[in-house]
Amino acid sequence: MSLSRVLHRGNDLNDKTSSGENSSGNTTDNAAENISKNAAKEAKSKDVTLRVLLTGGAGFIGSHLVRALIDLGSEVHVVDNFDPFYPRKLKERNIESILEHSKAALERSAEVQKSTLKVYEMDICDYGALISAFGNMKFDAFVHLAAKAGVRPSIKDPIGYGRTNILGTQNMLELAAKTGTKQFVFASSSSVYGVNPNVPWKEDEPLKPISPYAGTKIAGELMGHVYSHLYGIRFIALRYFTVYGPGQRPDLAICKFSHLMAQGKPIPFYGDGSTKRDYTYIADIVKGTISAMKYRDSMYEVINLGNHHTVSLKEMVEVLARGLGVRPILDVKPLPPGDVPQTYADIGKAKRLLGYEPATTFEEGIAKFVEWFKMTFMKSARSDR
Ligand SMILES: NC(=O)c1ccc[n+]([C@@H]2O[C@H](COP(=O)([O-])OP(=O)(O)OC[C@H]3O[C@@H](n4cnc5c(N)ncnc54)[C@H](O)[C@@H]3O)[C@@H](O)[C@H]2O)c1
Repeated sequence: MSLSRVLHRGNDLNDKTSSGENSSGNTTDNAAENISKNAAKEAKSKDVTLRVLLTGGAGFIGSHLVRALIDLGSEVHVVDNFDPFYPRKLKERNIESILEHSKAALERSAEVQKSTLKVYEMDICDYGALISAFGNMKFDAFVHLAAKAGVRPSIKDPIGYGRTNILGTQNMLELAAKTGTKQFVFASSSSVYGVNPNVPWKEDEPLKPISPYAGTKIAGELMGHVYSHLYGIRFIALRYFTVYGPGQRPDLAICKFSHLMAQGKPIPFYGDGSTKRDYTYIADIVKGTISAMKYRDSMYEVINLGNHHTVSLKEMVEVLARGLGVRPILDVKPLPPGDVPQTYADIGKAKRLLGYEPATTFEEGIAKFVEWFKMTFMKSARSDR
């Protein structure tokens, strides 16, 4: 594996990690290792995408995907602006974790030896920077995960969400057209269905979005159609359903609640606990995304990636609290605007087109999340004392 040209604010992260400096303490966590190994194993004998431009690779889903692609021997170019939506150090930690993973895998895998990783700190809204970095390169696929994520914050910052998620997505599509890239995978969201009560949702259900975030994701799906039609780019929009697992975004309920419960603080508990989410484990999302990178049978598809199993807020809190070994304190609040009462994926299309088969039950996924959470945060909390 070549790590020698990793770009990150002019620093070579490989040198940093090899010197033993490591702020994370969790960079070799077993759960993340297993996620990428399993995804790589499943994709191995099939034809594998080689050179990939991946936006948002320093984030939660992106960093898991990078690990799996490195295990497959890919050349991965990560574009991420380390957006301050949540602490930069968590994203630095994700990148460090990828580098540690790669080093550990180098000896045992010929694929990993072939792989390369470059990280570009760059804003997808800066089209000039994108063109000067990548305009003369050829890619097998773009995977566009970079976004301002989250429903509630999008109501406070609709213009910022529009800029990154709509303009930024159009910039990436424009770059795909300019570089002759023929495969474009886009991270859409279950939130596009909004308040549609007709669950489980199939992809052709009417969309009734109720947050600016959801609106931006629909815009991305539609702009993808434009570029697919005009430039022959195969465009696959994946509607992810609440993704969780080791490294989950700190603003999402499972991770946020865990931090609060671990400190004995009350958790915000919206409504009567009956809202439902189709929680989908990160390893299943990574596998589905890699399958979409290799999909060739049509030029434009929108595909749900969910678990096809709903869990109520009440059940989620119970399972999580049991795993953490705490008694939750509830701070009951009304359902915030923008939040939908339920999400529930029909995954028939994903099964048919991508061979997608989610393999992790909610209980198993929470056990893996809790293992990671305890190792990462509860251990460091103890050592900080
Ligand atoms: N996590 C989920 O449950 C979930 C559900 C549905 C859809 N999604 C989508 O999946 C994608 C990844 O989500 P995640 O949970 O990993 O979020 P994340 O916030 O951890 O990752 C997104 C990454 O994009 C980067 N980014 C933001 N703005 C950027 C910009 N202008 N230029 C370059 N990089 C930028 C951020 O720094 C971050 O590293 C997003 O598009 C999100 O909308 C996530």
